[in-house]
Amino acid sequence: TKRIPLIAGNWKMNLDHLQAIALVQKLSWTLSDAGHEYSSAEVAVFPPFTDLRSVQTLIEAEKFEVVLGAQDLSKHDSGAFTGEISGAFLSKLGCKFVLIGHSERRQYHSETDETVQAKVAAAWKHGLVPIICVGETLEELETQGQAAVPVAQTIAALSGHETLGEFVIAYEPVWAIGTGKVATPLEAESVAKAIRAAITENFGAESGQSRILYGGSVKANNVAGFLASGEVDGVLVGGASLDAEEFAGIARFQK
Ligand code: G3H
Repeated sequence: TKRIPLIAGNWKMNLDHLQAIALVQKLSWTLSDAGHEYSSAEVAVFPPFTDLRSVQTLIEAEKFEVVLGAQDLSKHDSGAFTGEISGAFLSKLGCKFVLIGHSERRQYHSETDETVQAKVAAAWKHGLVPIICVGETLEELETQGQAAVPVAQTIAALSGHETLGEFVIAYEPVWAIGTGKVATPLEAESVAKAIRAAITENFGAESGQSRILYGGSVKANNVAGFLASGEVDGVLVGGASLDAEEFAGIARFQK
């Protein structure tokens, strides 16, 4: 099976719903201008929860070829969990993807491998495709090398489920997020290879064909390097996804 390239834009906690509509509108125009050049890729945006409804309405009304995702979900289905958002709500709203275990959730909201595993189960239960974020901190890079932590986080997230649904792994070295420091394409390639080998070994060949993305200071002018090897199947973009032209420039690559 062919791994369709995925270009994912994580807006993080940016843009209110009016700014969100403006960005998606501009993004769609810019992408259409690029014509067939990007049509082989799946392009997805991950707005804040409060923007999802308006972005979804616009995408549907205008038939934009942009897929919707959420930045997080609750591990619970419903009930007395103030402030939480159920995966059931997200799939009803038209989300296909949900980010899980982003390093900012792990760092600032104490999410552990157990939390991530439970959220992956919740995503599958509600028909969402989890994008499981993994990556090492600078300290872990120095003490354990580059692949050990992302591989362990991947195995932990996928363990303990009766069967595995569709998933995507996003490899994001924490030291490369929002810092302007980028892993080299060779580093991203070798960690993606290690993650894929671990998935295949522990969960079988079919799961081993899942998409693996790179994230961390990706821009239009460095994306090609990451996608060139064929090991990395797309990118998870933060800062650069807030600018329609820059993000369209990232999506407009030639595989
Ligand atoms: O989810 C996106 C990543 O955290 C990358 O963010 O492109 O701003 O470095 P960045």
